[in-house]
Amino acid sequence: MKITKMKNISIIVAIAQNHAIGKDNKLLWHISEDLKRFKRITKGNKVIMGKNTYLSLPVRPLPNRENVVITDVLGEKFEGCITVYSIDEALELCSEKEESFIIGGASIYKQFLDYANKFYLTKVNKDFEADTFWEVDFNDWKLIEEENIVDDPQNDFTYSFLTYIK
Ligand SMILES: NC(=O)c1ccc[n+]([C@@H]2O[C@H](COP(=O)([O-])OP(=O)(O)OC[C@H]3O[C@@H](n4cnc5c(N)ncnc54)[C@H](OP(=O)(O)O)[C@@H]3O)[C@@H](O)[C@H]2O)c1
Repeated sequence: MKITKMKNISIIVAIAQNHAIGKDNKLLWHISEDLKRFKRITKGNKVIMGKNTYLSLPVRPLPNRENVVITDVLGEKFEGCITVYSIDEALELCSEKEESFIIGGASIYKQFLDYANKFYLTKVNKDFEADTFWEVDFNDWKLIEEENIVDDPQNDFTYSFLTYIK
């Protein structure tokens, strides 16, 4: 597929120190500030996810957002969502004007990385036991925002909200 570099595609993800992002189709932590940030950033926009991530959501579809779910199972549909059957089909739904968010999981992040021009990272400064990992090379990215959270009373680790652009 061509033209995609022009599209307004962002990745949003939380990654542990050991590159872990999930286990047993669940997140590895509960960070209220991260959930609030995720909601604030993605609200009113398109969110694109793989089937596993969709099934992992406690509330689905995610309210106040246009939910796009990707599956290989032709004909499968998810209520209240747009279901697509390939990455190209998902890319066709993304526009230049409106920001579209890739919200996981690992398989979807990896396939969209080259199409994204903005990256919202929550960097969790701890190792977690996991079955799903994603290691990203940020050499091609420019850091434009950084907020370090060092005193979250609900968690025994620190984390940072980092925003990168290409
Ligand atoms: N830390 C974070 O920020 C974060 C965010 C999101 C998710 N996660 C975690 O990531 C884990 C899930 O990741 P995952 O990689 O297992 O699953 P996933 O990416 O959410 O979904 C994988 C599924 O998407 C479909 N798919 C993927 N590529 C496709 C393609 N090219 N064409 C058609 N369908 C395609 C397939 O569905 P079918 O099997 O139906 O074909 C595939 O099995 C969970 O633990 C979740 O909690 C973490």
